[in-house]
Amino acid sequence: MGVKTMMTVFHKELDALRAEGLYRRMQLVEGCQGSRILLDGHDTLLLCSNNYLGLASHPLLKEASIKAVERYGTGSGAARLVSGNMELHDELERRIAAFKGTEAAVLFNSGYAANTGIIPALVGRGDVIFSDRLNHASIVDGALLSRARLVRYPHNDMRALRKLLSEMVTDGRRLMVTDGVFSMDGDIASLEELVALKEEFGALLMVDDAHGTGVLGQTGRGSAELCGAMAGIDIHMGTLGKGLGGFGAYAAASREMIDYLVNRARSFIFSTSLPPAVAATAIPALDLVDSPEGGALRQKLAHNANLFRTALAAASFDIMGSTTQIVPVFVGEAKEVMEFSRQLLAEGIFVQGIRPPTVPKGSCRLRCTIMATHALSDLEHDAAVMQAAANRLGIIGQDRRGSP
Ligand SMILES: Cc1ncc(COP(=O)(O)O)c(C=O)c1O
Repeated sequence: MGVKTMMTVFHKELDALRAEGLYRRMQLVEGCQGSRILLDGHDTLLLCSNNYLGLASHPLLKEASIKAVERYGTGSGAARLVSGNMELHDELERRIAAFKGTEAAVLFNSGYAANTGIIPALVGRGDVIFSDRLNHASIVDGALLSRARLVRYPHNDMRALRKLLSEMVTDGRRLMVTDGVFSMDGDIASLEELVALKEEFGALLMVDDAHGTGVLGQTGRGSAELCGAMAGIDIHMGTLGKGLGGFGAYAAASREMIDYLVNRARSFIFSTSLPPAVAATAIPALDLVDSPEGGALRQKLAHNANLFRTALAAASFDIMGSTTQIVPVFVGEAKEVMEFSRQLLAEGIFVQGIRPPTVPKGSCRLRCTIMATHALSDLEHDAAVMQAAANRLGIIGQDRRGSP
């Protein structure tokens, strides 16, 4: 097929996406990421950011970043195993290990890079991965890259997982992997039960706490702290770009496991390391999580999220079992959810519609994310505007969901 023919095929595929309501485009945010933003030039309530604690524009993080640029420059110049291992990477890894209560930690350039690096390092042909059906795409991609057998168990269904673990006998390794907080559903994995199963069946357990880190648990250690399961997890993966307000990701585990990942995880080995100023921002972010200010932000976030979930449920929205700051609103079809999102934007509220392939067909939803920095009055106003828009569109009610 020549280039011209290929371009025609791409063009047709884009047209097909548009026809199905699945076409995506980026919207321009001006200035800092806050609870209100300038979107395409208009003052807008931001209801789809993972900047849960508002740290992305915190003065202490900005200051750390600026100082790091002045002292260390802008780039690391190489991968960690070449010459890109700088003081701030080392310091941050020690801080993350202490934060998670593990022997060691290693940084990755993003959550996506972490999952597509860690999983193929741990398992390969002849091994089996047990992965929750609603795990993030980066876990699925990591599993596919690994060439291990991928067994996807029904969402959070521990009985089904137990059955699969007892049926899938292998001489190879077994890896159980789950989101801590499910990114599109806002519910939490049954971590205590997963720990019990991993012990019973001799599997490794990896938890991706992208959305729990800094946010959940009494001291912000994440979903594992909330579930009392910190010690039972073999690989704690988390990100620095959501609750912690910066960018990047980590694995925290035993010294030997981290040593193994450093030697085997290809996304770590073959990629230029994080710019020092990026690593620098995570250090005051971890300090803040441990400070009274961090505790107050977590409390405010939980309060805001609780109020918002209650208001939506009272308005007969289906919030899909969310118990966290991620609050989905079930809609159904792609075109419906995009029209809903468009109408909210016309009223100054920015919340993205989530469509396939991010979620299964027929289960499109608005994914509302709450921040500690949201004003209660903004959230109350938003719930009322959402109810009015949904009534206009005829898409309200808790019985819309079949079994996707
Ligand atoms: C559960 C989960 N894991 C991993 C990632 C990827 O993290 P990052 O954005 O740092 O690549 C995300 C991002 O949304 C996520 O929700």
